[in-house]
Amino acid sequence: MNGIRNALARLPRLDLVGGPTPLDKLERLSTLLGRELYVKRDDTTPFALGGNKVRKLEFLAADALKAGADTLVTAGAIQSNHVRQTAAVAAKLGLRCVALLENPIGTDDRNYLSNGNRLLLDLFGTEVELVPNLDTADEMLAQTGERLRHEGRKPYIVPIGGSNALGALGYVRAGLELAEQIHGSGQELSAVVLASGSAGTHAGLAIALADALPELDVIGVTVSRTDAAQRPKVEGLVERTLELLGRDSQALPKVQLWDEYFGPRYGEPNAGTLEAVQLLASQEGLLLDPVYTGKAMAGLLDGIRRDRFVKPGPILFLHTGGSPALFAYHPAKWTG
Ligand SMILES: Cc1ncc(COP(=O)(O)O)c(C=O)c1O
Repeated sequence: MNGIRNALARLPRLDLVGGPTPLDKLERLSTLLGRELYVKRDDTTPFALGGNKVRKLEFLAADALKAGADTLVTAGAIQSNHVRQTAAVAAKLGLRCVALLENPIGTDDRNYLSNGNRLLLDLFGTEVELVPNLDTADEMLAQTGERLRHEGRKPYIVPIGGSNALGALGYVRAGLELAEQIHGSGQELSAVVLASGSAGTHAGLAIALADALPELDVIGVTVSRTDAAQRPKVEGLVERTLELLGRDSQALPKVQLWDEYFGPRYGEPNAGTLEAVQLLASQEGLLLDPVYTGKAMAGLLDGIRRDRFVKPGPILFLHTGGSPALFAYHPAKWTG
């Protein structure tokens, strides 16, 4: 653990998160389900309505400042939480933010197009460019950077979801923070469940917990892809992140994925998602979101129902944020 901690300390980081985010017990839900449940509240990171991306941006924005950038350039869905947090960090640092946005569900719903995260982008002064899709996002971001450079600006590219090795360091750090909290609580947890999307959160957390709490299962519930498509993304990022930490000789953590909960597609909730969002709101006053944490929590709930957790003991849910998107989705009915 100290090896990783020392390697992390050598890399430039802005302090945007402050102290540890809370680790709370979900009392009523634990009683209801007959299984102890805890939640790590990364939805409360103290920045523009919170969420996991602030942790990645601690490293990415430090790198941007070091490079002398005046503009953060990134991409995501119209309701991207990542773009919201990147734009907010840019505003805080006196940088501009250019965002390429796609409409991944092809909707013309007014709330999706202008409320929730998208509304906040305007408040942060984001320069939004709508694009037909982000199938070749890395190339599109590079081209946008090139164009801005021609215009005399100094762009810094933040990849989709902030998920390169530098961004994943934010979750290596978060994983060490979580391990310390778990040790301090005296609990023997069996598993951590989280949403696995662009994979930086999953990769970083898996690295830290494999080192600090190797008995703990880390289960990524996919929000957009099958296991076969997601696995190389997570494993590749794990390898690149370990390399950046100078620990590429370390054994790779086991990557566990549950891919039954992301249908019908990224950005579109299913009945289980809506049920999970409503259950957490009505039982715990806790707001999830319809794109990421609602799907991950649906996986956790189904995992308990179907006895999918291999080890006994409490389960921890990593709440990665996203609730601003609730204002962009108006399903006719929140329960399945
Ligand atoms: C609320 C929320 N949870 C989870 C994730 C997934 O994290 P990652 O992209 O690092 O896999 C995202 C990504 O945008 C998110 O916005």
